[in-house]
Amino acid sequence: MATESSSTARLSCTSVPPARRVPSMIDDVREGLLSPPRWLPPKYFYDETGSLLFEAICDTPEYYPSRTEAALLAEYAGEIMTLSRPRHLLELGSGSSRKTRLLLDAWTAPAGTYWPFDVCAEMVASSGRALIDDYPDLVVRGLEGDYHGGLSCLPLPAEGRRLVAFLGGTIGNFHPGEAEAMLGEIADLLREGDHVLIGFDRIKDPAVLAAAYDDAAGVTARFNRNVLNVLNCALEADFPVEDYRHRSVYDPELQRVEMRLRAGHDHRVTFGRLATSIDMAGGEEILTEISRKFTPASFRRLLAAAGLVETAHFEAEGGLYSLVLAARR
Ligand code: SAH
Ligand code: TRP
Repeated sequence: MATESSSTARLSCTSVPPARRVPSMIDDVREGLLSPPRWLPPKYFYDETGSLLFEAICDTPEYYPSRTEAALLAEYAGEIMTLSRPRHLLELGSGSSRKTRLLLDAWTAPAGTYWPFDVCAEMVASSGRALIDDYPDLVVRGLEGDYHGGLSCLPLPAEGRRLVAFLGGTIGNFHPGEAEAMLGEIADLLREGDHVLIGFDRIKDPAVLAAAYDDAAGVTARFNRNVLNVLNCALEADFPVEDYRHRSVYDPELQRVEMRLRAGHDHRVTFGRLATSIDMAGGEEILTEISRKFTPASFRRLLAAAGLVETAHFEAEGGLYSLVLAARR
């Protein structure tokens, strides 16, 4: 059962309960942070401040993925909507839904319903309000929750063709097994005639990646460090946030960028809510996110492993970024 938190005739925001147990922040910290190698799941980046910082990353000159995906959508949204002809548009990790507007602009179905699903409730609510103002015929059914809790309990109606959008290269933030499982769950939402639209980032010159994930103005650094603020608030911890340095490292073997936070000096971090502490050595790092890069072929293999098949592929000049439309095999 989803709980309704706010609604008007064309806008509602509901909280989606997980279909299976998801680890709490305390579980995640115990598992990832208490002993090396230290790591954190990326969903904790996205409190309200983090979500706004992510938007600011998308506006930096170095962060090409968002701008490139927007250009692809501007060019191909008509074709994507003609090929998929949805009645329902479900978006996973919808954030501000800024780029989704390009799909909405090309959406000619009468009485279409947009279902933005995100872990950041503030983002779902504020983007939903803006959308119903700007799209007079659109119905928005905002969903707040954790997609790691599963997709089977999303309150999508049984009737009507579906398009699932998973944009921003977010699929690259999943480890290989997790990505396959996530795409498998998306495949389970698709019936005959339904599609999924996925944006993924491509393998390229590591210098371009280095700049994209460490912009000169330091927005990405602030975004990365913000996760420590989130832990400080939620767990009564005392990370000296400004003492951590943002690092982005490309691993060519694993074909991924790694976002890390490096401690500036030896210190002890106490977690009031866990009644425990950790000793961080100067130079020690926490892995906060991976961002995997693909080739068209490696992505097709991932789709195939999840029971999906590519039906259209739109790529930016120079193979900078790809958008694929896929269906159940
Ligand atoms: N799709 C947007 C935002 C991408 S950033 C774009 O392309 O610009 C990733 C988004 O996924 C954020 O909005 C974040 O809040 C959301 N997110 C991250 N982890 C999530 C999770 N576990 N469940 C649901 N949403 C999540
Ligand atoms: N999905 C985005 C990506 O992989 C997330 C992201 C962009 C990110 N910049 C970041 C995550 C910096 C951590 C730090 O491109």
